[in-house]
Amino acid sequence: MDTFKWESVEKQIHSLIKNYGYGEIRTPAFEETGLFIRGVGKDTDVVSKEMYSWKDQGNNNLTLKPELTAPVVRSFIQHNLGRLQPINRLYYIDALFRRERPQKGRQRQFHQFGVEAFGSENPEIDVEVISVAYNIYKSFGIDGMVVKINSIGSPNVRPKYLKELRVYLKPFSKRLCKTCNHRLDTNALRIFDCKNQNCQELLDEHAPLISDFLSDDDKKHFEKVLQLLDHLGIPYLLDFKLVRGLDYYTRTTFEITSSELGSQDALCGGGRYDNLVEQLGGEPTPAVGFAAGMERLLIVLEESLQDLRKSIDIYIVILGERALPEALKIAHNLREKLNLTVVTEPSQRGVKAQMKEANRQNAKFAVIIGENEIKSKFVAIKDMTKGEQVEVKITSILHYFSNLN
Ligand code: HAM
Repeated sequence: MDTFKWESVEKQIHSLIKNYGYGEIRTPAFEETGLFIRGVGKDTDVVSKEMYSWKDQGNNNLTLKPELTAPVVRSFIQHNLGRLQPINRLYYIDALFRRERPQKGRQRQFHQFGVEAFGSENPEIDVEVISVAYNIYKSFGIDGMVVKINSIGSPNVRPKYLKELRVYLKPFSKRLCKTCNHRLDTNALRIFDCKNQNCQELLDEHAPLISDFLSDDDKKHFEKVLQLLDHLGIPYLLDFKLVRGLDYYTRTTFEITSSELGSQDALCGGGRYDNLVEQLGGEPTPAVGFAAGMERLLIVLEESLQDLRKSIDIYIVILGERALPEALKIAHNLREKLNLTVVTEPSQRGVKAQMKEANRQNAKFAVIIGENEIKSKFVAIKDMTKGEQVEVKITSILHYFSNLN
């Protein structure tokens, strides 16, 4: 029922992303499980709780893809895309699977559009990626969105920070949930992803923030990102707790949220992942990207999309069996020569029922053709918006509609 909304939104997204020079990449529905364990991180919610994984008959461990950054990186490495040009700009619109508790804006099969830009560590490209997301939402007329941004620095600052975080959290470990107690030893940064209120309160109290541990280069990079955002007039909110729930991020992290979404308020999220290509076996290649929930965009657009009711150009009302061959020929010519959407009535019903159907299908015109029309070589054409009807010679129908597109 809602396919026409998806089509219209997807069309606009394809066209806007292409305007930035990104080319579409398509990857398989499933990958080897190890790709996500190594790429996304075994302590993340996505990998530890949400993947649909199985063993195939050849004993391979496979997983329906829960996100697209790792598969795109795998493909980038496998097809040696880095040799093509210094910066590779790729984008996707695809279906993904996460075994989460379904609710508004959160499905087990959902769709993302997103971009991944490989080959530059410059802050300009972080800002390009953020502006692709921001401008797509703007082009859909979305207000009330907030760009939240942070820098989690380069990986070499992390051990010092994580040590401080553990020192702070250890004495309160009884207040942490079971998962976070485990994370405290394995991957303490992931405690920021926890939905448990006690864990979040503990972090809010006096936990050290990674932004206080950035190197001078990290700071310079982040300042430049913010400067360029200012320059482009993209408003943002600094959120020093925004570490994002996937292990591959370095430096810039960001999310765009909407007040219209309720508890699942992230329209999109992304950031830099300068080490992932190397970590998965490729040449060291800095990269940055984002991914955005299609369903969440559709929720926010719900009202404006109602106006996009599907419409057809011409509905051919057929009265009597003998009019059928001529009607089918007219329909064929209109489609072939003028590329119009033409629907013919198949059921030999009365004129009233057929006109009602033309209306229901939101037809711009109805062409009425019966046995009398065949004899007189004229058909009646009704403009369904104006309600006006004219007689047109059968041989002039193409000419009559030639200006419709
Ligand atoms: P993510 O934050 O896991 O990031 O997902 C990105 C967006 O996908 C979310 O902000 C949300 O809009 C949508 N989303 C996620 N899970 C669901 C769900 N279960 N149902 C509906 N929508 C959902 C990533 O996936 C990273 N790969 C983004 C990225 C690209 N980072 C760098 N490049």
